[in-house]
Amino acid sequence: MTAPRILFVCLGNICRSPMAEAALRHLRPDLTIDSAGTGNWHIGAPPHLPMQRAAARRGYDLGALRARQMTVDDFDAFDLILAMDDQNLAAIEALRPAGNDTPARLLMGYAPQSGHAHVPDPYYTGDYDLAIDLIEAATRALDAQLSVT
Ligand code: 4NP
Repeated sequence: MTAPRILFVCLGNICRSPMAEAALRHLRPDLTIDSAGTGNWHIGAPPHLPMQRAAARRGYDLGALRARQMTVDDFDAFDLILAMDDQNLAAIEALRPAGNDTPARLLMGYAPQSGHAHVPDPYYTGDYDLAIDLIEAATRALDAQLSVT
């Protein structure tokens, strides 16, 4: 797939998926990249401040991002949808329009060596650095895979 449009999805779109959006954009500024939440609680809000601060310490500026909820239109607007955990993936599949075959996968599937199938939600765990570590590992592996295909 050349220059796929990639959507990262988490629950609130204020912690994990905006971080993933910024991490892949840093590696691949040429791609169309966005993020969204399956939930509607934080629509219009900037990333959670502890997430912004942890990201800033690692060189990422999340300040301009604003949360939005995933919609059915996203299945046509993107070529690849990457979820942070199984709950997000199930919500994505529940939204999928009949006949649509846009791939939706777990982000951490790109970094099996991490030992994590999901990105644990730092909104609840408080471990923002672990989330960034995992997201960086998986987005690096994703970039490597995009570069050879
Ligand atoms: P995220 O974290 O899915 O990584 O953005 C969350 C942020 C907020 C909520 C849940 C998850 N919330 O329920 O408000």
